[in-house]
Amino acid sequence: MATIARAALLSPFSTALVNFDHHVSSRNGPSLANIILTDPLRATPYTRLPYKPGRELQLQICESHRPDLQPSERLTATIHKMMSMTMSPVLDVTISVSEGTDIRAVLKLYDRRFGKDLRIGQRYAAPHMPVNEAMFQDFVRRGMMAPFFRELEEEKKAELLPSRPGHFLDSTLESQGKFEAALWHECSDHFACETKAYERLRDLQGKLIPDMLAHVRVVPFDSDALSIPPDLQHMASYFEVKGVLLGLIEGYSLEDIATSPLGPSDKAQWQPIIQAAAGAAHEINKRGVLMNDASPRNVVVDRRSQTPFIVDLAQCHFKDDLAELWHEMEWDKEEEYWDPDVQYWERASSDQNPAAIGLVAASRVRKMGVTVDLAFPDYDGIIANITAIKGLTVPIGEDSQLGRDR
Ligand SMILES: Nc1ncnc2c1ncn2[C@@H]1O[C@H](COP(=O)(O)OP(=O)(O)OP(=O)(O)O)[C@@H](O)[C@H]1O
Ligand SMILES: [Mg+2]
Repeated sequence: MATIARAALLSPFSTALVNFDHHVSSRNGPSLANIILTDPLRATPYTRLPYKPGRELQLQICESHRPDLQPSERLTATIHKMMSMTMSPVLDVTISVSEGTDIRAVLKLYDRRFGKDLRIGQRYAAPHMPVNEAMFQDFVRRGMMAPFFRELEEEKKAELLPSRPGHFLDSTLESQGKFEAALWHECSDHFACETKAYERLRDLQGKLIPDMLAHVRVVPFDSDALSIPPDLQHMASYFEVKGVLLGLIEGYSLEDIATSPLGPSDKAQWQPIIQAAAGAAHEINKRGVLMNDASPRNVVVDRRSQTPFIVDLAQCHFKDDLAELWHEMEWDKEEEYWDPDVQYWERASSDQNPAAIGLVAASRVRKMGVTVDLAFPDYDGIIANITAIKGLTVPIGEDSQLGRDR
């Protein structure tokens, strides 16, 4: 890892000199929010990154999706490369399975301690430090987790844009415990969302999304691990790191389609690839999953087949959860022609997942002088179809259910 710049990071807690490491490519180039803290000399108080190339991690399988991975079995994952660390550490690994076969896979970890975009405080990156851990342990010890999570859940229901963990961070040491707790909650949500989405999209695995191989947890190892004080052993789940093992898509990011050496040399191929990526988003929507983070960055194109795969499903909305929320808000009581399927497609039409991928990718290739024409879903047609099949009569002048989500 080449450390290429140093800068003083001013945080409410420290003015320590921090290494800015650009080993992991960032979305917008290096910035304060896009740094890794490497701490090679252990000179800073920051927690060392345990996920480095060459290292081995012990994983315990919590749920297996492959016959050769036995539930509760322990596996060794050897890290080849850190692929990304914006919200989650995403690692290219080799897994040695019991029968002696090696599997090349992607290990995505939901570890609140690491993630350059995850750990944004009020204004700056707020890297994890052992002192944060002490504050978090104290927060857990005082039984604050359950009431705090209830507060977060209430806020989530009430607010269109619930607070990010950084909202809880101020200059008091007390706020550190809350910040870590909010990060734990967010990571736990991301794991739950990603695993639920892969389950809902089972038929798309290996075709439009990677295969889900297993849900895992990292077995604590040496001093880099999260240590659990003896009196908090019964709360071990707050200190464990969960992850998913996914099939590796060897290829390039859709956002690099115009420049990647792995992309097609024939520019005429760009159009069908971008169209297929937009189509993949619609297929996901059709299965009741709306992505909150649809973008070409979250699409990897397989280098051999040139098939796009949508890889990031950690931030989604599910049709059944939305329907429950709409029911709680009594939208279904407001008009007799109200229908959750129509409402879902109204929401899909406003979220525009296919366009968020297709139009953004198209704007990239336009810079290279290539114009691509894309077809997008006919949302009005989908809604008209549901309305006709269900015999819903919409009063004249009220042709759209709402636009309440817009
Ligand atoms: N199964 C996979 N095969 C190949 N590459 C992958 C796979 N999963 C993830 N990646 C790569 O790692 C990057 C980060 O993964 P992912 O988007 O799931 O993590 P994230 O932390 O949620 O990222 P972000 O917040 O930046 O969207 C992806 O953009 C992609 O380049
Ligand atoms: Mg992503």
